[in-house]
Amino acid sequence: MTDKTANTMWGGRFAAGPDAIMEAINASIGFDQRMASQDIAGSRAHAAMLGATGILSDKDVKSIREGLLTVLSEIEGGTFAFSTALEDIHMNVEARLKELIGEPAGRLHTGRSRNDQVATDFKLWVRDQLDAADGALVSLIAALLDQAEAGADWVMPGFTHLQTAQPVTWGHHMMAYVEMFGRDLSRVRDARARMNESPLGAAALAGTSFPIDRQMTAEALGFDRPAANSLDAVSDRDFALEFLNVASICAMHLSRFAEELVIWSSAQFRFVTLSDRFSTGSSIMPQKKNPDAAELIRAKVGRIFGANTALMMVMKGLPLAYSKDMQEDKEQVFDAADNWMLALAAMDGMVRDMTANRDSLAAAAGSGFSTATDLADWLVRVLGLPFRDAHHITGALVALAESEGKDLPDLTLEQMKTAYDGITAEVFDVLGVENSVNSRTSYGGTAPVQVRAQVARWKEVLSR
Ligand code: ARG
Repeated sequence: MTDKTANTMWGGRFAAGPDAIMEAINASIGFDQRMASQDIAGSRAHAAMLGATGILSDKDVKSIREGLLTVLSEIEGGTFAFSTALEDIHMNVEARLKELIGEPAGRLHTGRSRNDQVATDFKLWVRDQLDAADGALVSLIAALLDQAEAGADWVMPGFTHLQTAQPVTWGHHMMAYVEMFGRDLSRVRDARARMNESPLGAAALAGTSFPIDRQMTAEALGFDRPAANSLDAVSDRDFALEFLNVASICAMHLSRFAEELVIWSSAQFRFVTLSDRFSTGSSIMPQKKNPDAAELIRAKVGRIFGANTALMMVMKGLPLAYSKDMQEDKEQVFDAADNWMLALAAMDGMVRDMTANRDSLAAAAGSGFSTATDLADWLVRVLGLPFRDAHHITGALVALAESEGKDLPDLTLEQMKTAYDGITAEVFDVLGVENSVNSRTSYGGTAPVQVRAQVARWKEVLSR
């Protein structure tokens, strides 16, 4: 006789139950209960199909459906008793269904395995997260567009190597992030389209001899089509990896922006003021207003990219089809998803609330010889000098200004002429930062007219 402690789901050939350590390493219910609603949706679709194809009687299907709805309401209501002995969400739900409806519960697993079941549940869960990320990115882009539109002609320094390079506009800088998050959004949508094939009905690995209708379950669960190879369907975790890849790249973008906000909100820069709602104070230094949200967003990329690496390593070298290794997929994805969503929401809130300090931006824009390139370009355009000569002359003038503790527009015409006699007073027109940014009208350039065109284009894109 079989030991009573043997698993009722698969214990037929077992004489004893698992060791406590075995149970501890094996169980996933502690985390995969997050897929309860997906599991029940998958089971409902499967049961309805078993009825429609005549594999189960309508009576059984009806009682399964009602029982599953009861289980769902127990889980949602917090009254469901999850059991580690029942390993995972799939067996917890089925065991409770058995308690509620008896014998028909045992028929639900006809033509199905936990392997296609877990792949289906997890795909549905990841797909929901991609949809949430889609919405969060659209919202963040909209917030950035508002910032860009308000400050389309506010000048600020543009940097390379974090050294003043050329003046740009605030709007242009904001729109750079719109492009980045826009690519993230398109990656989210690509990933969703590619992953949207149903594993359900692949069964354990080889398909099933029951006359199931995979098209029907795929449609019921919002998939575009059933996955075409049963071995692949149960062993594919590309969708989870793509989710983590997309999240990693987006988190990288978020971290770059967060880093800029940390720098910009410092007393030395004062480019932006973060709202009180997205800052914290210091318990000892009363003057402090810390950009903690930005710092944490900056850090999130670490765990998200860590999850990406971890799952790549789990999947690497696994033979077909399912292996229990794959149970390690969920905690990584859950943690990455939670933190990605939180980072997106926090960035959204910070961007909506922050104030760009127009005067500080303008003051900084004019310092650091930011219009040196404009001077060199003027020597080429107006005086016809080769660019290399113009570069050299401008360099000499920068050195002169620096030695006098001045900026370029503060030099006198006489001083200008010491570097190149042909320079005229007209040169002062291009040394102002406003003129500098207004002149950069090439497509995608920093001129306000270009920035406004890009804002309009993105608004159009988002309204589609
Ligand atoms: N809890 C398992 C997982 O997350 C479900 C699939 C188990 N399948 C199996 N053949 N043991 O991967």
